[in-house]
Amino acid sequence: MRAAVYRADGVLSVEEVETPSPGPGEVRVKVTVSGVNPTDWKSRGSGAEFQVPNQDGAGVIESVGEGVDPGRVGERVWLYLAAYQRPWGTAAEYTVVPAEQAVPLTAPDDLGASLGVPALTAHFCLLADGPVEGRTVLVPGGAGAVGHAAIELGKWAGARVISTVSSEEKAELARSAGADAVVNYHDDDAAEQIRAAAPDGVDRVVEVALDANLALDLDVVAPHAVITSYAASPDTEAVVPVRRLMGPGIVLRFMLLYTIPRDALRAAVQDVGRAVDVDALTTLPVHRFPLDRVADAHDAVEGGAVGKVVIDIP
Ligand SMILES: NC(=O)c1ccc[n+]([C@@H]2O[C@H](COP(=O)([O-])OP(=O)(O)OC[C@H]3O[C@@H](n4cnc5c(N)ncnc54)[C@H](OP(=O)(O)O)[C@@H]3O)[C@@H](O)[C@H]2O)c1
Repeated sequence: MRAAVYRADGVLSVEEVETPSPGPGEVRVKVTVSGVNPTDWKSRGSGAEFQVPNQDGAGVIESVGEGVDPGRVGERVWLYLAAYQRPWGTAAEYTVVPAEQAVPLTAPDDLGASLGVPALTAHFCLLADGPVEGRTVLVPGGAGAVGHAAIELGKWAGARVISTVSSEEKAELARSAGADAVVNYHDDDAAEQIRAAAPDGVDRVVEVALDANLALDLDVVAPHAVITSYAASPDTEAVVPVRRLMGPGIVLRFMLLYTIPRDALRAAVQDVGRAVDVDALTTLPVHRFPLDRVADAHDAVEGGAVGKVVIDIP
């Protein structure tokens, strides 16, 4: 099969490689669309011996391993964590994943390939501390992949959602996702604008930039709010004004999708499937690349492309 591959030097190439076979409990999926996330280019620094990149994708189950219902052959699926501790990411004609990581898909392939990392991350940040129905959620960076999913999942879960962005173009994306209020975080009065939209304070923050935003978050949170931080570069450090968190009992939570508890991951997969089934999730504007341009697709994500970068697999 044709596959994008990198090795210890992290350099991407497109090669002819042996098609993997599904082992017990696994399925082989003919990939149609591979989704690209920041983790995919960042992982190229891992020193892997042989790695097909990209965690997310959509496709059709083409064969099953021992113990998997053969009735699943032909099923359209979305894929998550395909490349986590496994060599067979989705940037290839075929991938092999544990059967539960190929989830029935009723929506278009582009949406299927956009769900895994962003929507599962957003779900955990929103809901790890209980339901958000009737609560207020702040989503900094609502035009980002995780932010967009957090707005849509937050609305699906019954929350009022406020988002911050850095431009009018991004504000429009956050509004289209369903944000009830959108604030430019560069505005001097950003905290006042958020407080005007949430007079009782926000209960959850799905935080993309804790170091930059903690002061703003603390200006707008309600007592006992949870701020979940999901993004950082290796050298990110945040200064925590301890007493300001102690009084109102604010929880600072950190998460990495790869290490969240298995039951939380399963709950996220189920909820994301339910949200897709009622058309509550959509794709950001899509930037398409052919498999031969996988390196350009990774560069686009690394360069901060606004929208969803996907790779079409012929
Ligand atoms: N912990 C995990 O498991 C996990 C899972 C998924 C992603 N991540 C990480 O999360 C980050 C975002 O991922 P993504 O796929 O959503 O990326 P993305 O699509 O590039 O979105 C990032 C968004 O963050 C916004 N942003 C940056 N600084 C901000 C600030 N100070 N306040 C508000 N918004 C800000 C950006 O817009 P502006 O620059 O215009 O503000 C952009 O819209 C990446 O670093 C990724 O590696 C971690």
